[in-house]
Amino acid sequence: MIKERKKLIAGNWKMNGSLGSAASLAVALGEGLDHDPALLTRCDFAVFPPFVHLLVVSQQLPAGVALGAQDCAVTGDGAYTGDISVNMLVDAGCSYVILGHSERRQYHGETDGQIAAKATLCYEKKLTAIICVGETEVQRAEGRQEQVVGEQLARALPSTAKAANTVIAYEPVWAIGTGKTASPEDVKAMHSFIRQRLKEQLAEGGNMRILYGGSVKPDNAEILMSIENVDGALVGGASLKADQFLAIANGVK
Ligand code: 13P
Repeated sequence: MIKERKKLIAGNWKMNGSLGSAASLAVALGEGLDHDPALLTRCDFAVFPPFVHLLVVSQQLPAGVALGAQDCAVTGDGAYTGDISVNMLVDAGCSYVILGHSERRQYHGETDGQIAAKATLCYEKKLTAIICVGETEVQRAEGRQEQVVGEQLARALPSTAKAANTVIAYEPVWAIGTGKTASPEDVKAMHSFIRQRLKEQLAEGGNMRILYGGSVKPDNAEILMSIENVDGALVGGASLKADQFLAIANGVK
């Protein structure tokens, strides 16, 4: 029997803000949750500040909001200039890591193989990996969205992925930061395709969370979060304002 999956509302802050604004955002989230504590019973929360803001955010973050990083190195500690290891992320208070975001795939040439290797490192350190998949506008126009996402799942998901250590985020690339969201029908179809593939690939695929990401806002959250197999949201722009981020969580009924 499939357990009820509590929705996860995740805020990817991307490369925005300062030490001061990151700390203020964490404080504002705490104030918002104090005001509406029922949100914590309806949703799990996580935020993903830039690496250099992790510590200051961890000091201000309210109980019930987990901390995560936007990426990690593909190896353990060592002579890898500019990289940040999973050990460092654990030390900084992280419990989640986003892997394979389309911006990392696009601007840093990240491959599914690297994503799988990073996920395995995360599992060793008890970090939950949020593995991102999604097609580009051209791929969708060609009707190849399921082929693309199916291949990403096959290659980027380690066989050791479990419901407790992995979350999938479906983020159609053309919907990120554009104000265009996928239609509820397209989201339903893709999430059901992903669910099917997860069940075929993994023993716990039926219970793994699948988030939707791409221009999630307070005014479309309720409809998106009500779709079958949508187990939460990975929010970019709207996660930079505490009231908008919490309003998205409020869309979870
Ligand atoms: P936006 O919500 O700004 O479209 O970003 C989505 C995203 O990429 C989250 O990881």
